[in-house]
Amino acid sequence: MAKHKQILLKNIREEGQHLLEKAESRGAYKVIRKALEMDPLKIIDEVKNSGLRGRGGAGFPTGLKWSFVPRDTGKPVYLINNADESEPGTFKDRLLLENDPHLVIEGMLCAAWALQSEWSCIYIRGEYAYPYTRVQAAIDECYEKGYLGENIFGTNFTHHMVVHRGAGAYICGEETALLNSLEGKKGQPRLKPPFPAVAGYYACPTVINNVESLSNIPFIIENGGEAYKSIGVENSAGTKLVSASGHINKPGIYEIEMGYPLMDFIEDECGGVRDGHNLLAVIPGGSSVPVMRAEECKGVNLDYDSMKNAGSSLGCAGFMVMDDSTDVVEAVLNLSHFYSHESCGQCTPCREGGHWIEKIFRRIAEGNGMPGDLKLIESLCNQIGGHTICAFGDTMVLPYRSFIQKFEKEFKERISNVLKGVEHERVPMDFQSELVSIGSAH
Ligand SMILES: Cc1cc2nc3c(=O)[nH]c(=O)nc-3n(C[C@H](O)[C@H](O)[C@H](O)COP(=O)(O)O)c2cc1C
Repeated sequence: MAKHKQILLKNIREEGQHLLEKAESRGAYKVIRKALEMDPLKIIDEVKNSGLRGRGGAGFPTGLKWSFVPRDTGKPVYLINNADESEPGTFKDRLLLENDPHLVIEGMLCAAWALQSEWSCIYIRGEYAYPYTRVQAAIDECYEKGYLGENIFGTNFTHHMVVHRGAGAYICGEETALLNSLEGKKGQPRLKPPFPAVAGYYACPTVINNVESLSNIPFIIENGGEAYKSIGVENSAGTKLVSASGHINKPGIYEIEMGYPLMDFIEDECGGVRDGHNLLAVIPGGSSVPVMRAEECKGVNLDYDSMKNAGSSLGCAGFMVMDDSTDVVEAVLNLSHFYSHESCGQCTPCREGGHWIEKIFRRIAEGNGMPGDLKLIESLCNQIGGHTICAFGDTMVLPYRSFIQKFEKEFKERISNVLKGVEHERVPMDFQSELVSIGSAH
């Protein structure tokens, strides 16, 4: 098993780490004291220098995003921690929120000082009931101790933090839908520009970052941007939390250094594909990225550039492994059911096209496919991608197209079997396999 530098999961196995006293005993809230003595602009420079890219899926450079926030507009600046975590196959943020909430809060405080923001919010998915209680309890402890509120840590900096629970819509993870939801409106995306950094929450400058992105900030301030950059590979600095699930012997959450070979990750960290089976395919970045066949995984590394060159994406590293027992038609039907259910309904191509595609995948899976079905799906994908307000439509079509392209034989066989009257036994696919471990990639 490879030794990986641990930045985020360093203290995760410590009993009671969610409690302030215990967290402080391992050094929590030391970095914010240091940060409060630094020039806020210097912090933004360090974060820029670190090469940290957003861990919510798009990989946008965090420091650059912070530098877009206009200063001295007379409007308040808001910071929002995106803890919606609804991408199928992704469950990494939950671990931080539940087991190390003080790391998350400290990261937010450092960001808040850099941005000169006096108010922040953790937008947490509604289903995360237990992480919510942990985070709220941690915030309460911070208020009691004077780490949140007026004049924190004996300075004249004031910062308030609240938690907002979502109502269970995937689209509310999209940053502008999140903002609408937070303002009490329908959780539907806004047109961009303006980008939230300029006009976000109640039209004020707003930075929205993922839980994992913000949790990296204390390390960067404590050790400097260069130290962070020295971990990982070019264009992909630092470590990455990977939520690994599916047909592997050790599903769980692993912290790996960027650039780690994908096949080594499966073999060495995840304990290999479950016994008696061979690897069929991997969806490496959460369900909204192209699927990779086993043979395409060889020689590919877990970092932004390598995954992109391989025709897929690191996304938010929701890593789903499928072995040769997988029925790919059922797998993509499962995904299409999710996306058609979660479309917010605002844009016609996504709302109507998504349902239509699900219906076609269903009839193929149920043995009623027709010869032109694959072409019809492709044409629907062409009408959805690039024709919607947000990236939901663009990303939904990526798995559809790639499944059909890479498993064309299986889809065609299923359709032609129908014509020949061959019965097919259905094995419904469920991606949300049970979690059994916190990965031990260290
Ligand atoms: C449909 C959709 C769902 C998303 N869901 C999430 C999510 O659950 N969590 C998240 O952090 N980002 C999610 N994002 C990305 C956010 O819009 C945004 O890019 C991110 O929160 C920015 O944080 P980062 O720069 O730290 O990655 C989603 C995007 C889309 C299009």
